[in-house]
Amino acid sequence: MEAVRTGIPGLDALFTLQGFPRGNTILLIGGPGSGKSIFGMQYLYYGAVEYDEPGVYVTFEETPEKIRRNMLAFGWNLEALEKEEKLILMDAVTYRISGDVDEETLRSGLDVDNLIANLDDAVSAIGAERVVIDSLSVMGLYAQDEFEKRTKLLRLSNLLSMRRVTSLVITEAGSEEIGVREFPVETFMFDGVITLRLDTETQERKISIRKMRGTKHVLGSFKFTITDRGIELTP
Ligand SMILES: Nc1ncnc2c1ncn2[C@@H]1O[C@H](COP(=O)(O)OP(=O)(O)OP(=O)(O)O)[C@@H](O)[C@H]1O
Ligand SMILES: [Mg+2]
Repeated sequence: MEAVRTGIPGLDALFTLQGFPRGNTILLIGGPGSGKSIFGMQYLYYGAVEYDEPGVYVTFEETPEKIRRNMLAFGWNLEALEKEEKLILMDAVTYRISGDVDEETLRSGLDVDNLIANLDDAVSAIGAERVVIDSLSVMGLYAQDEFEKRTKLLRLSNLLSMRRVTSLVITEAGSEEIGVREFPVETFMFDGVITLRLDTETQERKISIRKMRGTKHVLGSFKFTITDRGIELTP
């Protein structure tokens, strides 16, 4: 099993393998503002810059322009990476709000097969080895019921698993869902589950690895901070 370095200082060491097992599809869960998007982009940015592994970022919530602007705060020049064909920002926002989506598609929610087809094109265009989908929640919103949501998620996780990429799928969850007792249904379908939390009492951010097929990992919650260099675990 080969390791994929996460690009998050302090995180690789929590895995016996020293990173994510290559090929895994990992769910990244957290509440609003917990750092999910920064985590996702940091994974792709350092993947491209330090490990020469191109990446594709599919965005459903913020436009690519906004992401490029926000990430400059961490010194990450995404535009330069895009020009070097080390990164593609796939815009599912304007795709969603522009007129070329018919009502049926909107009602039935995100079309997983269509997303995957577009993703495949992007992945082969730059030889991407890393993928981030930000976020899945849109899918849940538009799904008619739990069964439909589950079916779509299963399809997405299967399709991603069949590709040679190591992917992070971001989803939002309330604090009760990322506690020790309750897991959202989607957690069972993925190779790995990582949660990000903000403890509102202590004002501390915490990261936990709940599951990672293919490597032993440390259990427990670890403090992390978001600084002008991005996310890093604190000792
Ligand atoms: N330059 C910065 N320096 C330090 N912390 C920052 C900086 N920029 C943003 N943050 C922190 O990161 C948080 C946002 O992170 P991010 O956008 O990754 O969250 P998210 O989990 O994706 O949120 P959402 O659910 O709204 O999409 C902000 O709420 C803020 O606390
Ligand atoms: Mg976000």
